[in-house]
Amino acid sequence: MSDGALTALQAIVGAPHVLTDPDTTARYLTDWTGRRTGRASAVVRPATTDQVSDVVKACAVHGLSICPQGGNTGLVGGSVPPDDDAPRIVLSTTRLSDVEAVDEIDRCIAVGAGVTVAEIARRAAKVGLTFGIDLASRDSATAGGIVATNAGGIHMIRHGDARAQVRGVEAVLADGTVLRRWKRVVKDNVGYDLPGLLAGSEGTLAVITRVLFALRTPAASSFVLVAALDAVPVAFDLLRGLENSGLRIEAAELMTSAGVELLHERGHRRPTEARARYYVLVEVAGPADLESLVVQTVSDVAGIVDTVGEPAPARALWEIREGHTGAIAASSTTVPVKLDVSLPRASMPQALESLAALGQAQTYDCRTIFFGHIGDGNIHLNYLDVPAPAQTELADAALQLVVDAGGSVSAEHGIGRDKVRWMSTRDPADVAAMKAIRAALDPHERLNPGVLW
Ligand code: FAD
Ligand code: MLT
Ligand code: ZN
Repeated sequence: MSDGALTALQAIVGAPHVLTDPDTTARYLTDWTGRRTGRASAVVRPATTDQVSDVVKACAVHGLSICPQGGNTGLVGGSVPPDDDAPRIVLSTTRLSDVEAVDEIDRCIAVGAGVTVAEIARRAAKVGLTFGIDLASRDSATAGGIVATNAGGIHMIRHGDARAQVRGVEAVLADGTVLRRWKRVVKDNVGYDLPGLLAGSEGTLAVITRVLFALRTPAASSFVLVAALDAVPVAFDLLRGLENSGLRIEAAELMTSAGVELLHERGHRRPTEARARYYVLVEVAGPADLESLVVQTVSDVAGIVDTVGEPAPARALWEIREGHTGAIAASSTTVPVKLDVSLPRASMPQALESLAALGQAQTYDCRTIFFGHIGDGNIHLNYLDVPAPAQTELADAALQLVVDAGGSVSAEHGIGRDKVRWMSTRDPADVAAMKAIRAALDPHERLNPGVLW
């Protein structure tokens, strides 16, 4: 970076917030998975929307591109820059940390892009409300990050994705313009849904600086059940049965014996006494006699091997599910091949068999651990111990299988840098329209070049 660029950035955010020392920038340059380490001339940490705007303008003047970064928990390589010499900065949002008091009448909260999911949940809980997005990365993932990736998480089945929580957004476009769509109302149908467009844009259309999130009413009483079963369709029968009994599904998560055994080796209990191929964790909400309704429903569903249940939060049961990501990363001898797909319920049982068989094929001979948000058809495919040269071929074979089964190659993690070649699974006109939007909003491709496209 030229001296002129450095001086300009320091004048905007203050010299201590333009990081250039390799020891301090290192953690911003490697992604959560450890798969990617990139390069940047500096990590710049603005504290207000105006500072973000001035940083973006200065980058345009000095020919620097920008990689926006929140908590750096993204799993598709979009939050770190590429490993080349092109002039660029990482724009860290962690100092955009203001939180307004919860609006209890219109049930919403305004937060800076750098505020964590856990902090939003804490603020909501203080006034008896809940935040619709929850995920195991809650202590680091940020408001801007969950919107930019359109994160799903464990309560998506109940409250929808991150896009569905957004009432308003403040964001800085590639030319430094501040875009503000900020209405507390629930219904607002004036023109294009620009906040909805920024949700899932992965830092390629704007830097999100503030978000106005809707808050929800928490369940008065909820119950967590883990059912052991040997066939995936039994899980769908169980979910249908619970809904037909008048219970509301708050979460519905799949685990397999491979995942449960890995977690057991690492000190967690097995969820049920009997072992089975699959385990489904379901959180339900409903009337006071919740537990007896659950027990009655379970007894009506054929194919359930064993169950365990306890009133929410049932943290020990949830920790088995939420511990999967860390345990898989720690136990694989190579960086795991992590795919995040969705499948129609009708084709899921057969597709999962084929995807598991693929992992066991002679050429790969790896461990496969599948888990995920089965209620939303979202399965996280993890292939462990795959030698680096075979990883792309395996990922391509698995994703092709998913496409052939009518599924999506990214359910909730996005495309980032890792899945770019799979954008071609979209219809050509769909791709052309998306590229036109990118070209209109960021004609010089300064925001996160190499992500999505
Ligand atoms: P980052 O990782 O910093 O960035 C992610 C992307 O968003 C990048 O492309 C970045 O450029 C862009 N971005 C970040 N902030 C901004 C901003 N302010 N403006 C514009 N662009 C921005 N994801 C799920 O969907 N569901 C899950 O259940 C889930 N569970 C997870 C569990 C674990 C243990 C981990 C490590 C990850 C999990 N994730 C999950 C993935 C990740 O947590 C989410 O993608 C999260 O939304 C990323 O937030 P972040 O602040 O860390 O974003
Ligand atoms: C999860 O649901 O735990 C995640 O999305 C993280 C992962 O896929 O490992
Ligand atoms: Zn997930």
